[in-house]
Amino acid sequence: MEIRINSLDTIREAAREFINHIGEARVFAFYGKMGAGKTTFVKAICEELGSEDVITSPTFSIVNEYGISNHKKSSLNREDFGGPIYHFDFYRIKKLEEVYDMGYEEYFYSGALCLIEWPELIEDILPDDAVCVTIEEQADGSRLVSW
Ligand SMILES: Nc1ncnc2c1ncn2[C@@H]1O[C@H](COP(=O)(O)OP(=O)(O)O)[C@@H](O)[C@H]1O
Ligand SMILES: [Mg+2]
Repeated sequence: MEIRINSLDTIREAAREFINHIGEARVFAFYGKMGAGKTTFVKAICEELGSEDVITSPTFSIVNEYGISNHKKSSLNREDFGGPIYHFDFYRIKKLEEVYDMGYEEYFYSGALCLIEWPELIEDILPDDAVCVTIEEQADGSRLVSW
C-alpha cells in the first residue's frame, strides 16, 4: 500500500485512508528518518480517530496514551476495538531492558492500537504480526507512506 501526503493541508485525508486499511492489525511500526513526519502522521491518525488529547511525541516517557471517542471506534473494523491508542517513541532507548521494564507486552498484546516510532531499536520484540510502515520525505517535500 502507498499513501502520498502532498502537504500538511491534506494529512487528515491521508490519515483517514490509512485508518481504512488498518483492518485487523493493531501494532504499526513507523520507520523513517528524523523529520520524515512520523509524529505528525501519528497525530493525524489519532485525531482522525477522534482523540481530543494533546498528541506529541512521548518526551519524558516511552509511551503516551490517548483516549478515543466512542463514535469513532467503529471506523476500525473490529467490533471489539476499545481504545485507547498507545504511541511509542523508542528513540531514547539505550537498552532493551528499559522496554521490558515498562511492560511493553501489556501494550503490544492488549488489542489496542499501538503506533510506534523508532521501532529499529526494539525489532527483536516487535510482535510477528506488526505492520512495518515507512515514511519518506520526497524531493518536492511531500511524504510517501508505504507498507
Ligand atoms: N506530510 C507533511 N508535509 C509537510 N511537512 C510535514 C509533513 N509531515 C511532517 N512535516 C513537518 O516535518 C517536520 C518533522 O515532522 P515530525 O513528524 O516531527 O518528524 P519525525 O517524527 O519523523 O521526526 C515538522 O516540522 C512537520 O511539520
Ligand atoms: Mg517523531
